[in-house]
Amino acid sequence: MRYFLSTPIYYVNDVPHVGHAYTTIAADALTRARRLRGQDVFFLTGTDEHGQNIERIARDKGISEQEHCDRIAEVFKQLWERLDIRYDRFIRTTEDLHRRGVLRLWSRLVQARAPDGTDAVYRGKYAGWYCPRCEAFKDEDELRQPGNVCPDHERPCEWTEEENFFFRLSSYAGWLRDAITSGRLRIDPEVRRNEVLSLVEQGLKDFSVSRARVKWGIPVPEQPDHVLYVWVDALSNYVTALGYADGDPLFGRYWQGGEGERLHLIGKDIIRFHCLYWPAILHAAGLLPPSREFVQGHITKNGRRLSKTTGNVIDPHALLERHGPDAVRYFLLREGVYGQDWDYTDAAFVTRFNADLANDLGNLVSRALTMVAKYCDAKVPRGAPAAGRSWPLEAVLARYEDLDFSGALADVMARVSVANQSIVNFEPWVAAKDPARRQELDAFLYELLEEVRLVAVLVSPVMPRAAGRIFAMLGTEGPGPADLAWGRLQPGRPLGQIEPLFPRIEKKDRIEKKEETPVTDASMPAGAQPAGDAPVEPRIDIAEFAKLDLRVAQIQSAEKIPGSKKLIRLQVDLGTETRQVVAGIADAYAPEALVGKKVALVANLKPAKLMGVESNGMVLAASVDGKAVLTAFDADVAPGTKIK
Ligand code: MSP
Repeated sequence: MRYFLSTPIYYVNDVPHVGHAYTTIAADALTRARRLRGQDVFFLTGTDEHGQNIERIARDKGISEQEHCDRIAEVFKQLWERLDIRYDRFIRTTEDLHRRGVLRLWSRLVQARAPDGTDAVYRGKYAGWYCPRCEAFKDEDELRQPGNVCPDHERPCEWTEEENFFFRLSSYAGWLRDAITSGRLRIDPEVRRNEVLSLVEQGLKDFSVSRARVKWGIPVPEQPDHVLYVWVDALSNYVTALGYADGDPLFGRYWQGGEGERLHLIGKDIIRFHCLYWPAILHAAGLLPPSREFVQGHITKNGRRLSKTTGNVIDPHALLERHGPDAVRYFLLREGVYGQDWDYTDAAFVTRFNADLANDLGNLVSRALTMVAKYCDAKVPRGAPAAGRSWPLEAVLARYEDLDFSGALADVMARVSVANQSIVNFEPWVAAKDPARRQELDAFLYELLEEVRLVAVLVSPVMPRAAGRIFAMLGTEGPGPADLAWGRLQPGRPLGQIEPLFPRIEKKDRIEKKEETPVTDASMPAGAQPAGDAPVEPRIDIAEFAKLDLRVAQIQSAEKIPGSKKLIRLQVDLGTETRQVVAGIADAYAPEALVGKKVALVANLKPAKLMGVESNGMVLAASVDGKAVLTAFDADVAPGTKIK
C-alpha cells in the first residue's frame, strides 16, 4: 500500500510554535509506524510563503520578501531537524516547481465546467470583511463586535471591494456531500465530519480566487495584475510537491494512482479550506480529492489560548533543550488525545516524564539489563520457547495508524508496568542464589529482554532515539520491520553498554521553577534577599538615566560564537540601521529561537570586543539563576522605537 501524508504548510509570518510542532511530530510518528509495517509512505511538510502579511513583515524589516522567507523557512527546517522529523519533502511555495504546478492546476480550472454546466471559474465582484492575517474574507457572523474583529487574530478586518476571479463552490455541494457521506472523503474525528456536512447543508458560497492588491504571490496569467488567492496557492502544494507540474511519477504513485490514503493532518481553524475548497478544486481539475482529513485539537496552556502578545507560549526550543526530542515528542502525543483540545502545563510535563519515562520505562530497561549483566555475564540468556507468547503488536500499530497516539502509547506503557511487576513477583535475585533454578532464571530474563525489545520497537515511532539506544544496549541494531516478531534476540549475544535512558527531572531542573520562585517572601528574615536578587543600587538623577539610549531592536540573525559557551553574535535591526551585538545568552536561548524577537538594547554603549567579536550595544535581560531571560513588549513595536 502507498500512503501520502501531509502537515499543513506553515506560514512564515513567524517562527514555529508548539502547535506546528504538534502536527509535524504526529505526522512523523505516523510515518514511522507505517514504515514499521513495511508500508510505502511519502511524508510532506513545508512553508506557506506568499501573501500580504509577508509583504508587510518584509517591508517592516527592510528586507526583501524572499530573504525573509528564506530565513524563516530555515528556522522551521532547523526545528524539525532537532525534533528528529524525517520528512520526504519540504515544499516552499516560492519554489519554481510549485509555481509551475499551481499554474498547471489553474489552467485546468479555467477550462473546467462546474456540475451545473457553467464555468467553474468566472469573473465577479467581491465586497466583504477581509482579515489580512487569515488572508481570507470573513462572514459577518464570524466577526466579533464592535469593530468587526477577526476572532482568530483579534484584529479588525478591512472592508474590501474587488473585481476578482471566483470559484463556483456552490455548484459542488452535492458532490461534496456525496464524497463525505460515502466515505470517499473521510473526515475525522466524527464531530468534525458533522461540522463539515452542516456547512454543506447551510449552503456553500462561491469564493474569490484572485487578489488585486497583493503583489507577493503567483500572478494570474489571464490578469497579471492579480495574484492567485494565497489559499489556492497554498493548498496546491500537496500536489505540486509531488512534481505535478512535470508529470513526475511520484504524483501518480502517491496521489493520482488512488492507492492507499491521501491524508492531510490539519487544525480546526483550516477545516473549510481543506474539507470543502480543496477537494472541490481537485475534482474540478479532474484530479482525485484527498481521501482523508484528520483534524487535530488545539493546545492551550494553563487553560488559556496560546498567544505571543500575552506571553502565554510554549517554546519548543526551551523544552528540547531541557529534555531532548524524545521527551517532547512523547509528551505531546501521550498527554492529549489527538483530535481533541487539551491543556498543557509545565507541571504535567514533569509528572508524565518522571512517571512514564524515568520510572516505568527507564527502570524496566535498566533493571532488565543490569540483571542480565549480573546473572548472565552480560549475554542474552537461553530463551524460553516462543510458543504461547504473543504480544499485541498489531493492535498497537493499528492504533498508531488510526492516529490514536495516546492510546497506542498507553497500551505500551501498560505492558511496561506489567513487566516491572513481573520482576517483583519472580524475584530473580532469589532465583540467582539457587543453581537448581538456573534454567528458570534464564528463561525469565530472556522473556524480560524480549519484552524490553518489543517495547522499544513499539515506542520507536514516537521516541526513535530512545528506541535506538535500547537496541544498542541489547547489543543489536534496529528497530525495523523485521523486529516485529517475538523471540528475535539471539542467546549468547553480548549486550551493549548500559546507560541511563531518562534521568528523572529533579526539582532544580524544572521548567516551572521560575514561576515558583517567590519574588517576596513574608517568612524571610528582615534584610534577607530572595535568592538571586541583589540589593537595589544607589539612586540616580533622571539626567543620568537620560544618557542611556535604549531602543527596541529586532533580532535578524543569531549564531553561536565558536569556542564560547555563552556568547551569541546577533545582527539586530534598529529601524535605521543593522548592528552587530554580542549577547551572553547562549545557555538560555537557541540561536534559531531568537530570530524575529524584539528586545531592549542599550544602543549608545562604546563598542567592545568579546572573544574577538565586536559588539555595538547591549541586549537587556533579567538574570534568573544565572540564566538570561529576555524582555518582551506588550504590543507590537517597530524596531528603533525609543524606550524611556
Ligand atoms: N498556512 C496555513 C496552512 C496552509 S495548508 C495548505 C496555516 N498556517 S499556520 O502556520 O498558521 O498554522 C498551521 C497549523 O497549526 C494549523 O493547522 C493550526 O490549526 C495549527 N495550530 C496553530 N495553533 C495551534 C495550537 N495551539 N494547537 C494545535 N495546533 C495549532 O494555517
